[in-house]
Amino acid sequence: MTKKHTQIVDGNKIAKRIKGQVFKEVLALNKYEVQNAEIRPNLAILIIGENQESELYVSKKIEEAKKVGIDTHLYRFSNESLENEILEAIEVLNQDSEIDAILVQLPLPKKFNTDKIIKKIDPQKDVDCFHPDNQNKKDDKIISPVHRAVLEILKEVKFKISNKKVLIISNSKIFGKKLEKILKKKEADVKMVLSDDSNLKKEIKKADLLISATGKAHFINKDMLKDQVGIIDIGISREGDKIKGDVDDKFLGDKASFYTPVPGGVGPITVAILLKNSLELFKKNINS
Ligand code: GUN
Repeated sequence: MTKKHTQIVDGNKIAKRIKGQVFKEVLALNKYEVQNAEIRPNLAILIIGENQESELYVSKKIEEAKKVGIDTHLYRFSNESLENEILEAIEVLNQDSEIDAILVQLPLPKKFNTDKIIKKIDPQKDVDCFHPDNQNKKDDKIISPVHRAVLEILKEVKFKISNKKVLIISNSKIFGKKLEKILKKKEADVKMVLSDDSNLKKEIKKADLLISATGKAHFINKDMLKDQVGIIDIGISREGDKIKGDVDDKFLGDKASFYTPVPGGVGPITVAILLKNSLELFKKNINS
């Protein structure tokens, strides 16, 4: 039997397609607003404390938003800011009818209560879908960008997920639990483990689809994987000026059926979906 070549998922290509749709829709919406050409989706971004990764993510979000005609509004808080100041700012943004979408870039410095801050965001403006009300909601028109990115990738590679063994490696409840739910709905046999789970290696070896989001550079290598596994690598870590994923793809050969490279895989798709979600919230806002 000839072995199939591994498909490397081009996240930039998928992102371009999604951003193209958003751009067209924003343009079309503007066309009919002759009297008020300024009507565009408005996304508020809060960045709290100093975190190099967060700065990079946020600048990418702002840059890409600009290209599709979404206006961003950046609010900076320092590590010395009071939690109340942040909560008050979110309240102002919640009340501002011109703000359609709000996101708080994570992680926050340790002194802040992340759950409390996320919970303050009006669920109707919660573009990341991190608010507990949105985590449990039935309507799935707007889902968390990173979760939607996983679904887009599975669609792109035509991965049939029902009855497949899916392993999610994540230390984040916000990310992992909801994704587990989404994929279980699609009849996958899903398991979520922490990155320090004592059975981790055994579980990885069994997986038909591996979704890893630990941020531990290249901790998964070829020998640990099942033949023809699909890999979605959500982990990002920086070593010097190199960005690395959780999977060491250098020696992957044709072991996997597909994988998402880092950089250039999940990241750009997540940003594109954030913009799509901002547009959806804008449409809901002008129709309400
Ligand atoms: N930090 C890393 N990924 C994300 C994301 O998707 N949204 C937010 N708000 N923060 C992040």
